Amino acid sequence: MSDAQTAQTKNTPTQQVATGDRAILPEGAKTIPIYVMGKNYEVPETLTIMKAMEFAGFKFLRGCGCRGGICGACPTVYRKEGDYKLHFGLACQTVVEPNMYLAQIPFYPANRAAYSLDEIEPTAEAIFALYPELFRCVACNNCTKACPMGVEVLDYISALKQGDIAKAAKLSFDCIQCGLCASRCMGELPQYHIAQLARRIYGKYIQPSAEHLSRRVGQIEAGRYDEMLGKLTEMSKDELAKLYKEREREPDFAPLGTWMPKDTQYL
Ligand code: SF4
Ligand code: SF4
Ligand code: FES
Repeated sequence: MSDAQTAQTKNTPTQQVATGDRAILPEGAKTIPIYVMGKNYEVPETLTIMKAMEFAGFKFLRGCGCRGGICGACPTVYRKEGDYKLHFGLACQTVVEPNMYLAQIPFYPANRAAYSLDEIEPTAEAIFALYPELFRCVACNNCTKACPMGVEVLDYISALKQGDIAKAAKLSFDCIQCGLCASRCMGELPQYHIAQLARRIYGKYIQPSAEHLSRRVGQIEAGRYDEMLGKLTEMSKDELAKLYKEREREPDFAPLGTWMPKDTQYL
């Protein structure tokens, strides 16, 4: 680093930001204006929409779950200053921008078919019968553009239209059921419910069954772990913490098949 750069770094004050699970504004943190239902609030610039709204005094009773971009409970529609487009994102993942405009909207309309997985035929025709709207897709790709998880929504819908349940199940694996795709669909498809049915059929009827899992479930049902679990439930919090700290643990990034615990009695 040059002398000039070093001097500049030394003279630059450390920027304070709001971090952590609680929206506490550190002294000197920069705030920006946002609008919630037309009312102006000043919020720290680094917060997500969810934390910014809590900072502004709102309390989430619904529409908030994991806060980690996984549960799909917080799909949000917003506008930006000077931009005619509607924007979409998860409130727990999208960082606020100056003059962002947030408004409450009703939950997304999405038909969800009723079925019993035990009685359903594991065929594409069964999916077509439950969700005939699948064929209203006009391949506009709005759904894919709206997806916060980067799921290729149009591709899984197209795979299903071609009867490829396995492909649709795999392509939609990262779906978190937020519904943002459905909110953008001119064909009014409930893409995520259709894909969920495909994954259910794939998991129950098409995918090869995991024999090691069935074996372990059988061992659990036969009571193999009852005594050990009974001892754990009798332990104090301190004893449990000690046991946890002292547990055998696989080294990070250990190559597959190269590590075994010394105590193999519960394997
Ligand atoms: S596919 Fe649809 S419901 Fe699933 S994560 Fe993407 S936008 Fe959300
Ligand atoms: S938004 Fe609807 S119509 Fe457009 S590609 Fe997606 S499923 Fe098809
Ligand atoms: S709260 Fe779970 S995805 Fe946002």
